[in-house]
Amino acid sequence: MESLITKAARHLAESSYAIALTGAGMSTESGIPDFRGPQGVWTKNPEAERRAYLGWQRFQADPKGWWEERLAASTSALGNLVERQPNAGHYALAELEKMGIIKCLVTQNVDGLHEKAGQQHLMEYHGSFAKLRCIECNARFRRDAFDLQDLLQKGQLPPICPSCGGIIKSDGVGFGEPIPSDVAQGSLEEAWKCDMMLICGTSAVVYPFANLPRVARQRGIATIVEVNAEPTPLTHEGISDFIIQGKTGEVLPAIVEEVKRLRQ
Ligand code: APR
Repeated sequence: MESLITKAARHLAESSYAIALTGAGMSTESGIPDFRGPQGVWTKNPEAERRAYLGWQRFQADPKGWWEERLAASTSALGNLVERQPNAGHYALAELEKMGIIKCLVTQNVDGLHEKAGQQHLMEYHGSFAKLRCIECNARFRRDAFDLQDLLQKGQLPPICPSCGGIIKSDGVGFGEPIPSDVAQGSLEEAWKCDMMLICGTSAVVYPFANLPRVARQRGIATIVEVNAEPTPLTHEGISDFIIQGKTGEVLPAIVEEVKRLRQ
């Protein structure tokens, strides 16, 4: 009986256009809590989740006040992300891209660890903690492109886009905030054309991201495999063909080794 690791590796090796979708479960082995797992940020602090649901409305009503609150806050719910490093799971997905197998990775994570691990073809579906974004033209900027403290002192928040004059916010996408149109469209196209989808470390309960596997299932040509600590709605609804239950930091490197063996 072929192991699930070998089965996933075989589908990847035989694919012509594989993509990966990832969530916070990728980064727990890098010391960043997930949201809905046993030690998740929302699991441990439901009030923080309720507040998060109001963020986008607050920004729309008072961007200046939103920025002043944000700059006054000590750290994000995920802790200090600058110091965090990729783990073996991130490097495994970057290696599958280098091997020409994974053509694109769509992540819900804002921690920048896939980029740090060397992933090139990357869509940050919920943005990045390290960037700012114009809500009019989607232009992205490094956080240090603006002297936010100086703007705060001078009462000149929110930052204004030098290209179009639009308002700039953090790149992180809040609940209810539209997914930036370039990423929303691009990820749909990737889900539609892939013939192999590897879904790693996500509870698959947040939309519209959780719609992407359903788009691939609807197209009907993709093999959809989950790597996750626990089954998800994708498992229960038969959207994924199978799940490899385990740690992404252990399962993904094992899949890469198996792909290499199959390619010998
Ligand atoms: N290996 C495999 N799976 C893991 C690991 C691990 N090391 N650690 C946690 N998991 C699993 C958890 O059991 C859970 O099923 O990863 C999943 C993470 O799910 P969530 O915490 O819900 O994270 P995610 O799916 O990325 O959340 C989506 O919700 O709050 C918003 O914007 C936030 O992008 C986030 C979105």
